[in-house]
Order: sequence, then structure tokens, then C-alpha cells
Amino acid sequence: MRIFSGIQPTGAKHLGNYSGGFRQYASTQEEGEAFFCIVDLHSITVDFDPETLRRSTLDLAAMLFATGIDPQRSTVFVQSHVPANPYGAWLLSSVASYGQLQRMTQFKEKAERREFVSAGLFTYPVLMAADVLLYNADLVPVGDDQRQHIELMRDLAQRFNARFGETLVVPEGRFPAEGARIMDLQEPQMKMSTTGGTPQGTVLLLDPPEVIRKKLKSAVTDSGREVRHDPEEKPGVSNLIEILSVATGDSFADIEARYDAQGYGPFKKDVGEAVVALLDPIRQRYDELRADEPELRRLLAIGAEKARATAQPTLESMIEKMGFVQPQGVVDTAPSP
Ligand code: AMP
Ligand code: TRP
Repeated sequence: MRIFSGIQPTGAKHLGNYSGGFRQYASTQEEGEAFFCIVDLHSITVDFDPETLRRSTLDLAAMLFATGIDPQRSTVFVQSHVPANPYGAWLLSSVASYGQLQRMTQFKEKAERREFVSAGLFTYPVLMAADVLLYNADLVPVGDDQRQHIELMRDLAQRFNARFGETLVVPEGRFPAEGARIMDLQEPQMKMSTTGGTPQGTVLLLDPPEVIRKKLKSAVTDSGREVRHDPEEKPGVSNLIEILSVATGDSFADIEARYDAQGYGPFKKDVGEAVVALLDPIRQRYDELRADEPELRRLLAIGAEKARATAQPTLESMIEKMGFVQPQGVVDTAPSP
């Protein structure tokens, strides 16, 4: 089985990214041949700073390894190192409809918040589809906010196959059973996010223990004192139950039973400690890995080579089926740039 996921090198990564992203990458890599892509080409679709992008790309590589991706077993690479990805996106844009792209919630939300809406922000899901489809991936582990993009990529694969002949594997999304959507601790109606949420309600993976404890201690709870998972009635408490479950592996029922008679104080304190216990070793590993930039670059170079070799045959087969004339009689007939 082929596994593929992508994550953007923008914004400090947070507990939601851990829960919907990193945690799932590390567990799914056991199930097959996995590719994890640092999607730097996606990061230029909103305002960005080149120097920061350079730094964040290596930050994210270190974080992927720190959260358990094994470079011996899985391929970690940078999207811009593989020209086939944006090339494939252009080809797929021929089977992507303007109307469907216009309906993407993430686009609508992001577009609403800014004055300059780049064309790239609009076509972003087509590039994401190319990311996955070029690698013939079967499984895409992501958080809940990517459901619509996964549906779109499945549509594009099917439409391409129907139009040009069987070429692309139609992938499935995988969403975690719990923690697929971690909410902001201060505003539990909003998902945890460094762009849309509150700073106090967002636990960063690199926050020091004191900061994590403080953020959880001041997390918004709901009226009453029952510790019960009921996102409609009790969004704040339900989110904390999910976080505790992600951090410890305990089921919701166990957590409810344990804290029911105790009220919110001890509950929140324990969630804080559990998150510290989860993130502290990650931060320490991160610091070690991030300090060795040549090693990170070396691993990314190996990843890029494997990724190119995997994507190229799919790209060539798309090119061939779409009727593009191949150059003949020249030394290098490879159709890629
Ligand atoms: P991004 O940093 O936007 O590239 O997202 C990386 C991964 O984190 C994706 O799989 C997202 O679905 C996931 N993710 C982002 N925010 C959350 C959240 N609040 N809860 C759960 N998963 C999330
Ligand atoms: N759009 C995804 C996000 O914001 C990131 C992404 C890009 C991705 N390409 C991908 C995720 C391919 C999975 C597969 O989280």
C-alpha cells in the first residue's frame, strides 16, 4: 500500500497538526510505503516571506522526524524539489471545474480574510491532487479540514481516467477517530490554527512546559461540572477530552468515568500534564535534529530522489495519454522540465 500526505511549512505547528497530521503519519508509515511531502509550493498561495519560508522548510523536516517519521522506512521530501508535482497540477487543471473549486470551504474562508487573493489560493486543491495522484497513493492521512480536498482529488482522478483512459489510482482519505479536529482552547467553536485561532488557545508543539500548562489551565470550559463528551452542548470540555485521549490513548468513556465526580480543576490540570508529557520529548528531539542542518538537507536530498523516481512514470503516462507529442531524435527524451 502507498501512503501520501502533505503539510505546509508555514506557521508554527500546533497540537491540531499533531493530532490530525504528524501522529497519523507516524502510525500509517507502518502500513506500507509512505511519502510525506513538505508542501512549500502551497505556502506561496498566501502572503509569505522568502527568508521565513527557507527556515520553516527545515524546521518542518526536523519536526517530521521528531514526531516519529523514520527516514529509513519513509520518504520525506520537499515539494519544490520535484517539478513533476506542479507539472501534474497543470495537467489536472484541465479536468478541474471552476465551479467545484469555487465551492471549496477553505478557499472561501481564506479568501474572505484577505485583500489580495492569489490565483494560487484558488487552484491550491489541484496541486494537492497532483501531489497524491502522481504517487499512485491509496491512502491519505489528514485531519477533518481536508475532507473536501480529498473528495475533489478523487473526482479529478476519476474524471481523468474516464476522459483519457485508466491512469490514476483513486485514493482514500483517512481521518483519525478522535482528534480529527482539535478546537481552539479559548474559542472552542473555531479549529485550532495559527492563522485563524487565538494565540492563548493554540498549543504549539514547541511551547515550553510552563506555557503549555498555562494554556490548558486557562482553557474555556462549559457551564456545569460534568466531564462528558458532547461537542454540541459542551464544546470546551469535549475538546479537552479529545486532547487527553490523543495524548494518553485513553478512551472517552474511561476519561469521563475518571473525572466525572471531580469537576473541571483536576481534569484540566491532568490534561496539561498529559500534553507536557507528550510534547516535551518531541521538543527535545526536535532541538537535536534541527541543530544538524547538513543532515536534514542530506535526508531531504535522498527523499527528493526517491520522490522524483516515483512521480515521473505517472507524469509520463499522463502526458502520453493526453496526446502531447514527445520529442524525438534528441539525446534526452525525458519530457520533464
Ligand atoms: P497544515 O499545517 O495546514 O498543512 O495541516 C497539516 C495537517 O494538520 C493536515 O492534515 C490538517 O488536516 C491537520 N490539521 C490542521 N489543523 C487541525 C486541527 N485543528 N485539528 C486536527 N487536525 C488539524
Ligand atoms: N492542503 C493540505 C493542508 O493544508 C496540505 C497538502 C498539500 C496535502 N498537499 C497534500 C495533504 C497532499 C495531503 C496530501 O493541510
